[in-house]
Amino acid sequence: MANIVVVGAQWGDEGKGKVIDLLSQYADIIARFQGGHNAGHTVYIKNKKYVLHSIPTGILHPKKTCIIGNGVVIDPAALIHEMEELKGQGAEITPHNLRISKRAHLIMPYNKSFDLEREKKRGEGKIGTTGRGIGPSYEDKAARSGLCIGDLLSEKNLQENIRNALSEKNFLLKNYFNSSGFSTEELFEQYNGYRDKLKNYLTDTSIMINQAIAEGKNILCEGAQGAMLDIDHGTYPFVTSSNCISAQACLGLGFGPQSIDGVLGVSKAYITRVGNGPFPTELHDETGKHIRQKGQEFGATTGRPRRCGWFDAVVLKYAIRINGFKTIALTKLDVLDSLKSLKICTGYKWKGEILREFPYETEILEKSTPVYEDVKGWETKTQGTQSYEDLPQKTKDYINRLRDLLEIDISIISTGYQREETIIMKDSLLDQWLHLSEM
Ligand code: GDP
Ligand code: IMO
Ligand code: MG
Repeated sequence: MANIVVVGAQWGDEGKGKVIDLLSQYADIIARFQGGHNAGHTVYIKNKKYVLHSIPTGILHPKKTCIIGNGVVIDPAALIHEMEELKGQGAEITPHNLRISKRAHLIMPYNKSFDLEREKKRGEGKIGTTGRGIGPSYEDKAARSGLCIGDLLSEKNLQENIRNALSEKNFLLKNYFNSSGFSTEELFEQYNGYRDKLKNYLTDTSIMINQAIAEGKNILCEGAQGAMLDIDHGTYPFVTSSNCISAQACLGLGFGPQSIDGVLGVSKAYITRVGNGPFPTELHDETGKHIRQKGQEFGATTGRPRRCGWFDAVVLKYAIRINGFKTIALTKLDVLDSLKSLKICTGYKWKGEILREFPYETEILEKSTPVYEDVKGWETKTQGTQSYEDLPQKTKDYINRLRDLLEIDISIISTGYQREETIIMKDSLLDQWLHLSEM
């Protein structure tokens, strides 16, 4: 296989977990490069459900190496809990198959307090974060007052860095948020306690990745969140606090862009969003409810109901542009099986004009009217279909219309949550990447 980056093309939860699990068999290394345990990547293997938050999805494949890169933020308690839970489900997790960059930043308990307190202060205008301290940890990283997971290795650094950080954090927690602060001793003791559990996993993962590339191994870079949640390119401020697009793979792992052979976007056959922020094609009616129920659209991390809407080609074209996708995986096609008719959004009508490019202005996104193309539903079961030929003609028409509108190759069609419920399109770009090493 080639070295590929798999990222979300919408507002997250596109089915990256399923797609990455499927592709992991072809990879030597599966590496996360951004985000934290705000992510929830669901995989079903033989009807058993696994949800990955900080650990790469590839961990479910024995004998693969997984990396948590420098671009990820880590809550050690959550990570240790996730390790234990996955081990309890039969996964093997050792310092041999899971490596963590010493440069990955820590999520501290005060980061979580800031996240929750800020959301409280925002009131109606809240972002709807996962409340896990992700944003404040990235803030500290940019402010150069963050702690790295590598700091766990030195008692002295750990204590000093906690003390320094708390002088400002406690002031703000007490005086600005009217909340309680933390003591250096308490946090030091807590974090010092994580050292023994984690120290053997910590290393310089950039050296590993670059060595693996030099040896011709195959790297699968696993994105979290999605293009529209990207801090630079998403629907700011209703975004997450990291870059979630393909270019971040290099930054968040420490290798050069020339080593990336391909970028695969993952998109649902419709669209969802969890949390607040503009969502032009959102459905507030029975169809929206139907999609939520049929697609089981409830957050893998927070359990919140996801907002559901029609496929938005304006969003997808934007995601294609900023990620450089040449091919996408289209997931959850089966969720649309019983609908009589479908809509595809091709533009936004705003002050008499039709916008075809995704606009920056939140006001336009909120107040413009989506321009829809109507498409006939197939009203036939596609769930579980494994070959393109077996899809009903009307389903093929929907897929072909998306392909034409987006001017992109569609390489995977997912027809159910199980591994096997998938079509890998022959001669697609992905098909070529998968067999690259045999050529
Ligand atoms: P991720 O964050 O992108 O990995 O996606 P999530 O795991 O948060 O949400 C996707 C959900 O859809 C999960 O529950 C998957 O098991 C499920 N899923 C993925 N692909 C399909 C599909 O083709 N059909 C159906 N019905 N469910 C799917
Ligand atoms: P995966 O990897 C969907 C959303 C939150 C909120 C915003 C900011 O499973 O696709 P944060 O806690 O990151 O500061 O919240 O981003 N969000 C996600 N939505 N899927 C995710 O991850 C998400 N991670 C964060 O709901 O709107
Ligand atoms: Mg998810």
